[in-house]
Amino acid sequence: MRRKIIIDCDPGIDDAVALMLACASPEELEILAVTAVAGNVALGHTAANARRVLEACDRGDVPVYAGCPRPLLRPPVTADRIHGETGIDGSGLPPPTRPLADGHAVDLLRDTVRNAPGEVTVVAVGPLTNLAAVLVQRPEFAAEAREIVVMGGSAGPGNVTPHAEFNFHADPHAARIVFESGASLAMYGLNITHQVRVDDQVLGRIAALRSPPARAAAGMLERYRDSGGALHDVLAVGHLLRPDCFGLEAALVTIDTSETGRIGRSIVERGSGTNARVGFDAAAGEFLDFLLERLARY
Ligand code: BDR
Ligand code: CA
Repeated sequence: MRRKIIIDCDPGIDDAVALMLACASPEELEILAVTAVAGNVALGHTAANARRVLEACDRGDVPVYAGCPRPLLRPPVTADRIHGETGIDGSGLPPPTRPLADGHAVDLLRDTVRNAPGEVTVVAVGPLTNLAAVLVQRPEFAAEAREIVVMGGSAGPGNVTPHAEFNFHADPHAARIVFESGASLAMYGLNITHQVRVDDQVLGRIAALRSPPARAAAGMLERYRDSGGALHDVLAVGHLLRPDCFGLEAALVTIDTSETGRIGRSIVERGSGTNARVGFDAAAGEFLDFLLERLARY
């Protein structure tokens, strides 16, 4: 049975590749909608980029809803240093031709999940603002969602501060609401996403594929490789397609929201209760081969 998913994202170069992987996997995934949130760049860009990527993948029919334009409490922060001014610099993709879907991402998430309890998985690969807003409106969402797969946090060091990862640092209060919600959570933090990187060899293999999505991916990843090339968000989609490539363990994850240098830090403890399954080990080579195979479908 195909898994129904909503992808909540802030494209973002790795978000864009995650969307490409999902679109290349119609046997396994039914993409009900994509919801955009402010994060790597401002909401106007992330909402446009989601449509640019979907259209490049010939999936302009997937509705894109704009969500929250800022974090719950903290001032907005971006990562345009890594993803470029537009969020997907280097992609060469034209502006979207289709409009945004009518309505707010938070309403779409709430209503879609409420109308099909136990059936819809949310892949959340940006700051968790949209999901937190849903959970505040409707706490039942936590039990109604089949699973929420989060790229965010870390069981080790951060990437924005020594302690915090970007998505959790951008909206730590939202991350805390999600991790305290009781939802079925899978967490892909930096400790696992740093194991799967685009290097020169992988980039060469993607560049050898000549389809429009593959050319866009190669163009974006060329700049992205220079900041380490970790394919963060792609692993969250990979979780649904190739669970055999990832080793997860039950853990208790708490999010630091104190106004200190540790804000946004995720504390991951094994053996003391559990609110999430946390990714620890990736079969990087195997997963990269799989990603390449899927990108070659275009
Ligand atoms: C996360 O932050 C963003 O820059 C990436 O898109 C990813 O979701 C990695 O820390
Ligand atoms: Ca992202």
